[in-house]
Amino acid sequence: MAYQHIQIENSGKIRIITISRESKLNALNAATIQELGQAIREVQEDEIIRAVILTGAGEKAFVAGADISEFADYDPAQGENLARQGQQLVFDAIYHSSKPFIAAINGFALGGGLELALACHIRIAAHHAKLGLPETTLGLIPGYGGTQRLTQLIGRGNAMELILTADMMSAEDAFRCGLVNGVVEVSQLLDAAYRLATRITTRSGSAIAAAIEAINASLDPRKDGYETEIEAFGKCFGTPDFVEGTRAFLEKRKPNF
Ligand code: COA
Repeated sequence: MAYQHIQIENSGKIRIITISRESKLNALNAATIQELGQAIREVQEDEIIRAVILTGAGEKAFVAGADISEFADYDPAQGENLARQGQQLVFDAIYHSSKPFIAAINGFALGGGLELALACHIRIAAHHAKLGLPETTLGLIPGYGGTQRLTQLIGRGNAMELILTADMMSAEDAFRCGLVNGVVEVSQLLDAAYRLATRITTRSGSAIAAAIEAINASLDPRKDGYETEIEAFGKCFGTPDFVEGTRAFLEKRKPNF
């Protein structure tokens, strides 16, 4: 599909999705949300792609949030709908994707931008990146999973402070509290994300999918995480990757997944 607000690039088994509204600091308008939703579906359907890097165009912003100009006159029902649709189409879809998404945070990650990064499986930030959930300055709260996923990642106290103050956090502070997995020079950001994605793509895709499902279940109160792990572990024994992985080990060679 041809996109207007995002760019798609493939490198072997890795897809790079770049949100491209640089003049608006890559803010997520409705059209961009729709395009991201479509791009996420295409990742799931593409048998070659095994990992995704998500980033923003330019060096100023990853994503500076949902597009404020589009929802400024919304009523409560429209607001609820905005959050529900966005979560289903994009944020939950990334969070539950069986193929890992790595956020390469190249600048401001604010509001929906930080929530987008939080939905990803792994986050790497450039040194100059600033992260925050400034919704309370707009009379709002985060609506794309921020109150839940930030709390899971950095704990209740830290999440309370970031959301209630609406302050921005430096990349180094984000690293210290576990919000991002690493911090690098902006010139190294895509390379670092790519190296990480490449390491993941050498592992078993079916095992990666099972691991994501089990790890996510540990944070889902509707699920028994231990039971999910046991069942997912069992299913691995029925996969071609298990046959290849164990055979390769016994034959003293690298597996070819
Ligand atoms: N929605 C809509 N437009 C946005 C936006 C957003 N979330 N964030 C930035 N923009 C637009 C600005 O309106 C401006 O557009 P214009 O040039 O047509 O006026 C352009 O992007 C550049 O932003 P600007 O504010 O001029 O840059 P800055 O360097 O002065 O400030 C920020 C950068 C990130 C601090 C500031 O843009 C900001 O606070 N953005 C909103 C962040 C936010 O509250 N996000 C949560 C939304 S729920």
